[in-house]
Amino acid sequence: MESIDELRSEMQALVGKSYKMFREEKEFIPGETLVPVSGKVVDNEEIHQLIGAVMDMWWTDGTYTSRFEARMKRHLKMPHAAFCNSGSSANLLAVAAAKEYFGWKNGDKIVTSACGFPTTLNAILQNNLIPVFVDVEFPYYVPTTSAIVQAIHEYSAKAVFMAHTLGNPFDARAISQYVPVLEDNCDALGSKIDGRMTGTLGVVATQSFYPAHHITTGEGGMVLTRHPKINKIVRSLRDWGRDCWCPTGKDNTCGKRFDWDFPCLPQGFDHKYVYSRIGYNMKGTDLHAAIGIAQLKKLELFVARRKENHDRLYGGLKAEGMEEYFVLPEPYPKSDPSWFGFVLTIRDKMPFTRNALTRELNIRKIGTRNLFGGNLLKQPAYAGLNAPSVGHLENSDKIARDTLWVGCYPGITDEMCDYMVDTIVNYVKVAEKLVSTNVEIMWE
Ligand SMILES: Cc1ncc(COP(=O)(O)O)c(C=O)c1O
Repeated sequence: MESIDELRSEMQALVGKSYKMFREEKEFIPGETLVPVSGKVVDNEEIHQLIGAVMDMWWTDGTYTSRFEARMKRHLKMPHAAFCNSGSSANLLAVAAAKEYFGWKNGDKIVTSACGFPTTLNAILQNNLIPVFVDVEFPYYVPTTSAIVQAIHEYSAKAVFMAHTLGNPFDARAISQYVPVLEDNCDALGSKIDGRMTGTLGVVATQSFYPAHHITTGEGGMVLTRHPKINKIVRSLRDWGRDCWCPTGKDNTCGKRFDWDFPCLPQGFDHKYVYSRIGYNMKGTDLHAAIGIAQLKKLELFVARRKENHDRLYGGLKAEGMEEYFVLPEPYPKSDPSWFGFVLTIRDKMPFTRNALTRELNIRKIGTRNLFGGNLLKQPAYAGLNAPSVGHLENSDKIARDTLWVGCYPGITDEMCDYMVDTIVNYVKVAEKLVSTNVEIMWE
């Protein structure tokens, strides 16, 4: 009879074969092959790990999850990590845990970026805290340290929670001198500022592993922290609000499961069923963690490729004089971003609009995205939100009108980068010509 290990190897080999057939490399045909903004880059290793987790038959939070958490902790040199089901859940858990740890009250203020991802802001609102909005600065797309510090002082804010936009870091370490910083590192795994990795600079950081991100688990997220107490609160909130900290499937880690005493519960009530917080179920599963284990091995290559692609797009557009038409992205001072995308803002009074350029790129099979929600305060969900902002948020408004980004993820090749540059340059030249022709016609 075959052993389970032999069976697993056979299945992995078989699936590997079918994966190869499914994934056959296709030639890039400009204008026909889609150039996506993002996507997962995987090979047999992810399938191997996934089959291992399937055959383990555990399927919830278990050994693969612990292994993935351990490897992320090692990678980021952070002592605590809790895998969960999405980056948005990680944000919610991080803010809730920080609120309890620091003793923030409902209505306390948290500084955030006006031009961010909605679930960074939502985590503040859902925890009954009040956001203080700060505008972002060109060409970085994050707020400057001085703008953030001004907002902290002006509104006696308790903390800062914002994202490193498209991988470009805000200076979390400098701001930590004033208040605790929570980093939404969902788009920035691998970025550095002052030689230090983002996601390690504040009291707590979050990751997303949705397929658009630097590494994927399908769906998934993580909360990382240096503080054991924050980690304990995160895990409790993630796992239904329970008081017990036994890993899934384990009992009596504390050695006194039936000997605890809680004032309103019967003496010796099973600790496994004691709830000390109003929690959620946001656990990740071993199936998702297994994919993450394989992905993490490739992270350094992924980051390097993202940087190469970003450099190639930047170099190509700059060489063609496109700086006259677009704000080209620059790393925040002293930073080394692990770019999430290549962002372009059309300067004022140009002969074309963001939407027209987007349409053209999409016709030419180049994927584009807006910079998330632009000025979030203008989104229907936040109409009537009673929250302060510093200044008029003009840059976030401009981003809503005039900004788009294209891909630089590791699935993009040099050929694709050059095609994107050529398409943008040609479009701008044609738009320029059309406008000058119209001007002549008007003059005649
Ligand atoms: C900055 C940022 N934070 C949070 C999230 C939410 O992550 P998830 O999609 O895993 O919920 C995203 C999603 O793309 C994001 O870009």
